[in-house]
Amino acid sequence: MNAKIANIIAKKGKEPISELTAYDYPTARLLDEAGVDMLLVGDSLGMVMLGYPDTTHVKLEHMLHHGAAVVRAVKNALVIVDMPIHTYDTPEQALSTARALMAIGADAVKLEGGVEKEEHIRTIVQAGIPVQGHIGLLPQKVKEDGGFRMKGRTEEEAAAIMLDMEAVVRAGAFSVVIECTKHSVAAAITKACPIVTIGIGAGNGTCDGEVSVIHDLIGAYPWFVPGFARPKANVSAEIKRAAAEWIQSISINK
Ligand code: KIV
Repeated sequence: MNAKIANIIAKKGKEPISELTAYDYPTARLLDEAGVDMLLVGDSLGMVMLGYPDTTHVKLEHMLHHGAAVVRAVKNALVIVDMPIHTYDTPEQALSTARALMAIGADAVKLEGGVEKEEHIRTIVQAGIPVQGHIGLLPQKVKEDGGFRMKGRTEEEAAAIMLDMEAVVRAGAFSVVIECTKHSVAAAITKACPIVTIGIGAGNGTCDGEVSVIHDLIGAYPWFVPGFARPKANVSAEIKRAAAEWIQSISINK
């Protein structure tokens, strides 16, 4: 097994596991130097880097382009690259996409879905490619679901997410993201889950670790900040301040 993945698995239930998104060389290098465990080249890049309304506009080409920049930057963190919508509709297509992402130097891939993606995950894992699953709110299904909405509020929904977790585990994933899920449900899933669970919008202290979109953490995308974000900086204000100060400082040759 990949030594980086073995290290992450060894932390389960003992110390918090950190995962941040990164989409470019300088950010990835800074986050790696800060000591983050995992860097996710998330398809959230469609929103926070490319200005689309959701992740359904992202293509494999985007992931290869941004993923390669992140791989060039990183020395220590485990680099996971997201598989965009309609690049894993069948197990065969999933394997071909996962191979393309591994060819740019990714350590692992991530894809959304539980029960309905069990065979897809198994096919990738059996080819020797580590997979992080993604259950709960699935951003690639946001249009079908009628928007971003907390999952696991009803008993049926909570039971379905538990079944999704079990499918991801059976398929051989090393970890699973639990997104925007009722906190008590995320906690119960983690208690029952033998692999590393990573929460986002699923409560603090409910999973083995947490993932944050880097723009939410550093205040770099002020036009939309999810309610669960815990910003630790206000980079957008700093950029505007520095730009305005520089604009004022320019003088002309009279
Ligand atoms: O694309 C992404 O950034 C993600 C995280 C929200 C987990 O999938």
